[in-house]
Amino acid sequence: MIAETFHRRDGRLWCEGVDLADLAERWGTPLYVYSATAVRRRVRRFRTAFAGLPVRFCYAVKANPHLALLRLLAREGVGADTVSAGEIRRAVRAGIAPADIVFAGVAKTDEEIRLALELGILQFNVESREELARIDAIAGALGRTAPVALRVNPDVAAATHDKIATGRRTDKFGLPPEEAVDAVRLAARLPHVTPVGIHLHIGSQITDLAPFRTAYARVFALVDRLAGEGIRLRRLDLGGGFGVRYRDEEPVAPEAVAALVAELLAGRELELVFEPGRAFVAEAGVLLTRVVYRKESAGRHLLVVDAGMNDLLRPALYDAWHGILPVTAADAPEETVDVVGPVCESGDVLGRRRRLPQLARGDLLAIATVGAYGAAMASTYNSRPRPAEVLVAGDRAVRITPRREPEEDMARECIPAWLDGAGATSPGGGDGDGGPP
Ligand SMILES: Cc1ncc(COP(=O)(O)O)c(C=O)c1O
Repeated sequence: MIAETFHRRDGRLWCEGVDLADLAERWGTPLYVYSATAVRRRVRRFRTAFAGLPVRFCYAVKANPHLALLRLLAREGVGADTVSAGEIRRAVRAGIAPADIVFAGVAKTDEEIRLALELGILQFNVESREELARIDAIAGALGRTAPVALRVNPDVAAATHDKIATGRRTDKFGLPPEEAVDAVRLAARLPHVTPVGIHLHIGSQITDLAPFRTAYARVFALVDRLAGEGIRLRRLDLGGGFGVRYRDEEPVAPEAVAALVAELLAGRELELVFEPGRAFVAEAGVLLTRVVYRKESAGRHLLVVDAGMNDLLRPALYDAWHGILPVTAADAPEETVDVVGPVCESGDVLGRRRRLPQLARGDLLAIATVGAYGAAMASTYNSRPRPAEVLVAGDRAVRITPRREPEEDMARECIPAWLDGAGATSPGGGDGDGGPP
């Protein structure tokens, strides 16, 4: 549920060599806190498990795109799996070489394709024939050749939340195997793309090896089939999706995945790419929040806290369960409470029926396992600040993102002149503000 880099000292919760209550005092709440050591340990666990295999890790930037984490991962020799120009730019700015970047995404624009080609990324993970033709045309215009991998939808239903399953026939991702094979044949004929591989990603938070086995075996078979036709692919990108322990799940061990791919590789000359996101960073983060009020309502005890679904969307969006721990006051008698956020939505509940020591206004809680898809999905809904983020390494803590105040958003907005008869107010007039409509 929470990495060993978070631990208790004299009843207080610490991250590595730093007292979390001190961080909350210094930078306010809600506050994301990440452990650099926890991230490094996760990456090294995967590296060790796959030692000796021709494997490259491209971290799924969407899980947590912070530049500091990307830099840390770059230092660990990890590349990037990206889904937008913004993610590509982040990866490059953090020091990840374009040759270590794969670019997926279902709606790549011309501008994004151009950027990726100009940078010289490792490969495009292509979703459709139409996209393939577009990449070919743009590469031709730039005088380049684009390395492409076709994304296969293997029609495997992994046991995970409906909204994070991606490998079923009915999901919008990839092409069914027959159509993907056809698209690879097309890629082999097009002048400005080179088919280098096949891509696959069946979903996220998968805790069972079986769907990986089925899906991987299907794409290995496709590679063999294409080789039989004289189309030799050099790379298989097997995606991410490795689950973590939020509550009592038993995640698939990286060693088990490594054993599976070693068995499937069986002497083939193929390079493998994995795109873990959650598995590298989820357990490395907590979200600190303070109790604002206690409320008794219809026989329920509510703890109203200052973090909400705008800060951490996963409980509202995916019915996700996150551990909630007292940061201090851990030895008070326990009670059963619902921990709810401040956002005006009934769905803004961070945890139901939790056993927690009796807490009072001002007490601190840590929401666990939020390093992935936490801050990455935060918004300013209800005109709330976007939370600050802190990175801890040993006894050093650096605020790596300040809180974004509503004032900063308001400074970018303008009120058209026709609404008040005067000139448009900040930031100097809106585009097309030509008077009353
Ligand atoms: C194509 C692709 N690769 C990798 C990932 C990362 O998944 P996870 O964070 O579960 O490892 C995702 C997430 O949805 C994805 O869409």
